[in-house]
Amino acid sequence: MKRRIILGTALTGLMALSTGIAGAETPPLEQKDRYKVGFAQMESNNPWRIAETKSFHDTAKTCNWDLIATDAAGSAAKQVADVDSMIAQGIDVLFLPPREEKPLIPAVMKAKAAGIPTFLVDRSVDPNVAKPGEHFVAFLGSDFIDQGERAADWLIANFEGDKGVIVELEGTTGSSPANDRKKGFDDQIATDDRFEIVASQTGDFARDMGRQVMETLLQAHPEVNVVYAHNDEMAIGAIQALELAGRKPGEDVTIVSIDGTRDALQAIIDGKMGVTVESSPFFGPLACEVMQKYAAGEEIPGWVQVKDRVFTVDNAADHIDEAY
Ligand code: AHR
Repeated sequence: MKRRIILGTALTGLMALSTGIAGAETPPLEQKDRYKVGFAQMESNNPWRIAETKSFHDTAKTCNWDLIATDAAGSAAKQVADVDSMIAQGIDVLFLPPREEKPLIPAVMKAKAAGIPTFLVDRSVDPNVAKPGEHFVAFLGSDFIDQGERAADWLIANFEGDKGVIVELEGTTGSSPANDRKKGFDDQIATDDRFEIVASQTGDFARDMGRQVMETLLQAHPEVNVVYAHNDEMAIGAIQALELAGRKPGEDVTIVSIDGTRDALQAIIDGKMGVTVESSPFFGPLACEVMQKYAAGEEIPGWVQVKDRVFTVDNAADHIDEAY
């Protein structure tokens, strides 16, 4: 049975969704004035990652953390090694955004074996192998399936043509957002027979790769009139490729995406992009609050769910100043 728990007042706009109560089997966290905190970032090649890392550095000042932050430069193996190094340096607690679902499981297991409570942030690991409340305390993050469904819902409601020919740009292969955003969108779009996904290929959540993949797919499928990108960076790359090919994003190609970056909101304002479903990178304050509650012995749900907004032409201008 699912149970909803609303965490304290500082969590405005956030929901906690329980998939099991953490605490019984995960290492305890002592209550103290300062903590040595590890944040093992996966890469820093896009605004989302940079905003997330900054959020942890900003929170370190207000939450009394001595923060050790690393950058795995897009390598899951380096991310595991970075966690090893943090364990050796004696961190009290680990915040980990696992680049991919399976390769980061050893890092989670090693942290537990070393008596260090781990919170997964923004991405998760394979739930069949590593579980909240047992191997890590909790996953703090969005419902990626729901994000994909909401992108599809917007397309179904707003697409004006008779036939939607879709190219899907997937995120990093083997990552939880790529798996779930694909499932959410594909299942939902299959309910409307106007649409067909003619190609679905990874762009690794990166702008350059999104542009390159779009260039190639455009040659194979010149009839494309919808692009669904698993994040804004790939959507912006796709817009560049389409414009280079003489197409008019927003007019003859509908672009739907996920994140809510500044460039995406600007593209919506400029009429080039239809929608971006929010996926917030600002995890620092939530990490601080949940960690303190855990140290105080409070029950933490296995999934502390972040609630996401949807940005369209109706509200993009209202939010661009707070975007990253
Ligand atoms: O895990 C969240 C995803 O990772 C964001 O959508 C993307 O932009 C980032 O790289």
